[in-house]
Amino acid sequence: MVKKTSAYKKSMDNSLGALDKKILLGFIVIVFGTLILASFGFFYVLSSHLTEVIFISSGLAFIIAIISSMFISRTIVKPLRQLNEATKELEKGNLDVRVKIKTDDEIEELGESFNKMVEALVETKRRQNEIDKAKTDLLSITSHELRSPMTPMKAQLQMTLGGYYGKLNIKQKESLNIALRNANRLDKILVDFLDISRIEASRLKFEYKKVEVKSLVEIIIKEMESFSPSKKIKIVSKIKNITVEGDPERISQVFRNILENAKKFSPEKSMITIDSILKDNFIEFIIQDEGIGIKKSIQDKIFEPFFQGEQTIYRDHNGVGLGLAISKGIVESQGGKIRYESSEGKGTTFFFSFPINPPKTQKNFFKEKV
Ligand SMILES: Nc1ncnc2c1ncn2[C@@H]1O[C@H](COP(=O)(O)OP(=O)(O)O)[C@@H](O)[C@H]1O
Ligand SMILES: [Mg+2]
Repeated sequence: MVKKTSAYKKSMDNSLGALDKKILLGFIVIVFGTLILASFGFFYVLSSHLTEVIFISSGLAFIIAIISSMFISRTIVKPLRQLNEATKELEKGNLDVRVKIKTDDEIEELGESFNKMVEALVETKRRQNEIDKAKTDLLSITSHELRSPMTPMKAQLQMTLGGYYGKLNIKQKESLNIALRNANRLDKILVDFLDISRIEASRLKFEYKKVEVKSLVEIIIKEMESFSPSKKIKIVSKIKNITVEGDPERISQVFRNILENAKKFSPEKSMITIDSILKDNFIEFIIQDEGIGIKKSIQDKIFEPFFQGEQTIYRDHNGVGLGLAISKGIVESQGGKIRYESSEGKGTTFFFSFPINPPKTQKNFFKEKV
C-alpha cells in the first residue's frame, strides 16, 4: 500500500496550488484581453472604421499572445525542459546533474524533489561501492589464504604419485590422481577469484613480450584436447603467422576461457574454428562454435561476474561463471573489445581484440560502469 505522506496528501487535496494560480492568472489575462478587444472592436465598428479596427485589434491580439506565451514559457515550459534535460543526463548515468528552478510553485518543488532523488542515488552508489570494495577485498584475501596451502599440498601429492615415498599399487595411484585432479580444479577456481578481484581493483598485471600468435594458438589447441576429450570436438585454426607485443599468458587465458565454453556447449563431433584479422592497430580473434547458442534472455548478462546460464545437459561441473567476466576484464583493460554473435541451436561466435602494441596505462572497465 502507498504510504500517504503529508506531501502526498497535499498533492491530492483539491485546493489551488501556486501553479494552478498562475495558469488561472494567464487564463484571466487572455479572457480579459479578449473582452477588451471585443469591446474595442464593437466601439469602432459602430463608428464605421473597419480597417483601423482590424489593424489595431490584430496588433493588440499579437501583443497579448506574446505576453501570455512569454509568461507560459518562463514559468512552465523552460523549467520543464530543464527537468527533462536533467532526467536524460541522469539516465546516461551522470550523477552530478542538478536542476535550479526558481518559479515558486509546484515545478520548483518538483525540481527540489529531483535534486533530493539524485542525492539519494549518489548515496546508494557510494554504499554500493563500499560493499563492492569489501566483497573484492574479502575475495582477494580469502583466495590468497586458501591458495597458500595448495602449493605444498599439490607438491606432496605429485611426489607420492611419482613414487618418491615408495611404489604404489593401482588403487592408491587412482586415489591420488583423483585427489590431485580436484586439487588442481580448486586451485583454478582460486586463481579465477584472485583474477576477478584484481580486475575489479584495476590491479591486473601484464608482462609484455613478442608473441607469435599462430604457434601460441597451436599450443592452446593441444592443451584443450584434454578438456572433455570424449566429445571428439575438432578445433581448427586458420590463424596467420603474425607477431604482436602482448602478454602470452593473458592472451592464452582468454582463449582457454572461450574455447572451454565452446567445447562445453557444443555437441559431440562438432567443429570449432579459430581465425584472426588485423584491424587498425589491433588483432581480432574469432572463435566460432556449432553449439547450443546463447538464449536472448541471458545475452546481456553473460559477461557479469558469477553469471551462469541455466542448467542444460551440457553443463558439467566446470566453471563458476567467471570465465567471460575475466576475459572481458583482460581484453578491455588493454583497450580491446570483446563481443559475440549467437543463434540459438546453431552456434556462437566470439570476437575479441588485443592491441598489436599494448597501451602503457590500463583501463578499468568495472569502475567506468555506472
Ligand atoms: N559458446 C557458448 N555457447 C553457449 N553458451 C555460452 C557460450 N559461452 C558462454 N556461454 C554462456 O555464458 C555463461 C557464462 O560463461 P562463463 O563466464 O564462461 O561461465 P561458466 O563457463 O562458468 O558457466 C555460461 O554459463 C553459458 O550460459
Ligand atoms: Mg566458462
